[in-house]
Amino acid sequence: MNTPNDLASVDRVLSTARSVRRKLDFDRPLDPAVVHECIDIATQAPTGAAGESWRFLIVTEEGKKRVLSRLYTDVLDQFTAQRGLQIKPTQKALVARLHEIPAMVFVCANAPHPGPEIAAQVAYYGSVLPAAWSLMLAFRARHIGSTWTTLLSARQREVAAVLDIPDHVVQTVMLPAGYMKDARLHRAERAAAHTVTFWNGWDSRDGP
Ligand SMILES: Cc1cc2nc3c(=O)[nH]c(=O)nc-3n(C[C@H](O)[C@H](O)[C@H](O)COP(=O)(O)O)c2cc1C
Repeated sequence: MNTPNDLASVDRVLSTARSVRRKLDFDRPLDPAVVHECIDIATQAPTGAAGESWRFLIVTEEGKKRVLSRLYTDVLDQFTAQRGLQIKPTQKALVARLHEIPAMVFVCANAPHPGPEIAAQVAYYGSVLPAAWSLMLAFRARHIGSTWTTLLSARQREVAAVLDIPDHVVQTVMLPAGYMKDARLHRAERAAAHTVTFWNGWDSRDGP
């Protein structure tokens, strides 16, 4: 049974798992045992028909991180130019030091992509992304900060070439992770539940 203390700490982790891009200790490596502990928690997530198709590829080698950081920067530049967006200061800060990040954690699906059918895609990504999010939460609970990033998924082939990822594997998110340093984590401003929740039919906000 949960105690009120459990509830408070679980709720705190869930509501303060903010992106941490700069308040990180770039000089402190992640302990592989802690990473494995977090992955053991993450893989308690739901898993669909492809059955535990998640794979976690942790990149700590400097040369590889440098190449991947250049790719990431290219995609970010392209993405912002195409959409006429400004790169936010926190994004700039991450890009500037991405090659120094203690670990880049790629969460991959070790199953052939199912094609365009919506239900198949929902099942495919739904079998992997909950584990990725649980991993981010397990990190957060251990003072390891990260950010949910998907920009590199636009460069599947180049990333695969750097990391020897087989052709059938699909890369999803990449979590740049490191121990937090002076990060102040707070609840984000998000629309309140009653504005995004419907009961028994679209647009009907009256609960039972
Ligand atoms: C699908 C998805 C992809 C994202 N990709 C990136 C990314 O590649 N790089 C990045 O800096 N932020 C990315 N973000 C944004 C951050 O993960 C984060 O959600 C955003 O900065 C808001 O910060 P907060 O989670 O602390 O409120 C992405 C978010 C989502 C949901």
